[in-house]
Amino acid sequence: MNLKNIDSYFSVSLSGMRKIIKDFQSEMEKGLSGEKCSLKMIPTYVDRPTGEEKGSFIALDLGGTNFRILGAELKGNGKYKVSRVKKFVLGKRYITGTARQFFDFIAGCIKTFIKRRARVAQEERAVGFTFSFPVEQTGTASGTLLRWTKGFTVKGVIGHDVVRLLNEALARKGLPGVRIAALANDTVGTLVSRAYEDRHCDIGVILGTGTNACYLEELSNISKWHGYRTSSGRMIVNIEWGNFDSLPMTSYDGQVDRTSDRTGQQTLEKMVSGMYLGEITRLILKDLLKWKMPQSFKTEYMSVIESDESASLSRTGSLLKKIGIKNSTIDDRRLIKKICGMVSLRASRISAAAIAAVIRKIDPALSRNHTVAIDGTLYEKHPRFSDHIKDALKEIFGKKASRIKTVLTKDGSGKGAAIIAATATHDYHD
Ligand code: GLC
Repeated sequence: MNLKNIDSYFSVSLSGMRKIIKDFQSEMEKGLSGEKCSLKMIPTYVDRPTGEEKGSFIALDLGGTNFRILGAELKGNGKYKVSRVKKFVLGKRYITGTARQFFDFIAGCIKTFIKRRARVAQEERAVGFTFSFPVEQTGTASGTLLRWTKGFTVKGVIGHDVVRLLNEALARKGLPGVRIAALANDTVGTLVSRAYEDRHCDIGVILGTGTNACYLEELSNISKWHGYRTSSGRMIVNIEWGNFDSLPMTSYDGQVDRTSDRTGQQTLEKMVSGMYLGEITRLILKDLLKWKMPQSFKTEYMSVIESDESASLSRTGSLLKKIGIKNSTIDDRRLIKKICGMVSLRASRISAAAIAAVIRKIDPALSRNHTVAIDGTLYEKHPRFSDHIKDALKEIFGKKASRIKTVLTKDGSGKGAAIIAATATHDYHD
């Protein structure tokens, strides 16, 4: 590989995006009918909220190294208030340890959260649990972990109901009154959170440490579903798109895959999400510049470098110095900026193609408005990711792209979990 052809090696043309859309749609169809394929298409037992859900709830948001607990008050009419947020860090020993250590730690955090509130109303003990991993839902508040992603390797959880494991830990901590009312993926929480106030929202996307999406599907199209009918006849489906694998991989992607803990899995995630983009960049720089790069080149560095508009790229220079590359020339810095731009542009165009495939699936002629709720640090913090997605959607759909609104839905997964808990609690009492 040399500097001249690396650009084309990473570019995703319009016809490249069209191919992704076509293959993605065919995998979605297979997944919905239960055929073996790269997309799990998991029915979530969750319908779109009405906006009238009310009450106070606790939401647990667990999907990366930060674990958050929120107190949320839903006021109805699409209004809500997040009363309290507490962040906990899940140390490496918990994410690579045993199920008991892991769930005892989480239950301990819930205990701390509840204890610190002087008065806790009874209904606040209904908990919405966002657990952002591939889980085969077996009910509104139960589901089996299919596999770990994003570097988690806790033993004794795969194949087990994660709500049962958490309930057992809550009982060990002396918290029998806390009831897990709903279990949801972060994409589902994000969709629901935005849909509570926006009736056009029918897709939820996460572009963060990992990446995934969910959307609202007609039950009649989910031919593998034999469960109950929701009142609207629709259900949110968790695509688990991180595992989509009909993508042109470069030799650098091959290297990332071989050294990751899930070789051959999560191909799209490894080309798109925050956990891997920095590593792809590091491998290219090592190869082209023969630099001894630090062990980890963080994806957040790419945001710093790509937003550096100074003539001498001085912020890039100081960042490089900080990570051990002392005497970078302006040409080196320009090249690094170019490579970061290339890696993030490819990621954003793959994401846009996947979003376009989902929109085509729901509304082939693009005859309605759609809001795509997006959360995640990569989308939020990267200077150009969101614009690149918008531009790519325009290339794909032309003028009709104005019917698609992509909106940052910050902390959606937590709020969404509270809303789902409210819906579940309501059903429960009826
Ligand atoms: C990983 C998980 C998925 C989650 C995504 C974003 O892809 O498998 O469930 O939604 O990360 O956090």
